[in-house]
Amino acid sequence: MPTLRMVLAERITIPVRLLPRAYVAGAIYPRQAHHAFRERPNLLYHMAAKVIVPEHTMLITPLSQGFGAEVSQFDCAEGGAPEDIARLQQAYSTYHLLIFRSAKPLAPERQVEITGWFGTLLAEEARWTTLNNAEPSGHVVLPFHSDMSFLEDPLAGISLYPEALPRTATTTSFVSNALAWDRLTGADKQQLAGRRALHIYDGAANLGFDWPVFTYWHPACIAHAKTGRSMLFISEHHVEQIEGIEPAQCKALLQAVFAVLYAPEYRYEHIWHTGDLVVWDNFAIQHARPAAADPADGQRIMRRVQLGKAGFMAQAQRVRQASGG
Ligand SMILES: [Fe+2]
Repeated sequence: MPTLRMVLAERITIPVRLLPRAYVAGAIYPRQAHHAFRERPNLLYHMAAKVIVPEHTMLITPLSQGFGAEVSQFDCAEGGAPEDIARLQQAYSTYHLLIFRSAKPLAPERQVEITGWFGTLLAEEARWTTLNNAEPSGHVVLPFHSDMSFLEDPLAGISLYPEALPRTATTTSFVSNALAWDRLTGADKQQLAGRRALHIYDGAANLGFDWPVFTYWHPACIAHAKTGRSMLFISEHHVEQIEGIEPAQCKALLQAVFAVLYAPEYRYEHIWHTGDLVVWDNFAIQHARPAAADPADGQRIMRRVQLGKAGFMAQAQRVRQASGG
């Protein structure tokens, strides 16, 4: 019989035998406890509404922003029992972003394995790549975007793991396309539903790449592949045009939509620590690099694994051929 303990916060647990009986009853019957104590939101209620879990059971704790969840009591090096993987996949479909904390250095092959639980690994490119702040692509400020949304097949998912971190804190910001759609006004939803948005990327020259200008029309509202949930699919980095809407009206619409999508209280800013592994759904979540990663502050090397139908190089090649380049 495993020891039971009550989880009071992310990392604070108390053995059940030390708790008053009322707390334990409330934990086993949280709904009843909620009714009993909702008029008096005191400490007892907060304790009683938590759950009792056997020791060593993997925990998935949702973030307060309404998307994303942190995985704890999970062994990143060895863990992965079928029931844990099933729970993680379920959580990924619900929260769209998972944060793991690895106690030991995570081998690239293991990052590939864990990321592969959440989708199809890109077949035709390297299984992992690195983003290094010694190069422009690894240190410039990046506005919010979904990777490769300017191509026919954007990435389905991404994982990042820091191989080296600078001396001062470095972050990646995230917002939810799914939550944003829910929060839009009825009038804005009506304007966007059924229309497509033009995703453009012509900034490659600034990063020292010889790529053509990429453009692709995607629906402004897409359905989540697994759950069918409606999600906004436009970003400040790549979208300035919605089909069938005059430029001035479109500008005003995008301004209103971006104010909802990027509202500070709905952002999650991940401060990177050694051992962090963050996996996210690239259709459901947008990410940004809010500050430049100055190489003078130390190396910032992020190891990246990608999920999706086709990689960047294969699609870029297709675009080149189609344009006769
Ligand atoms: Fe990106």
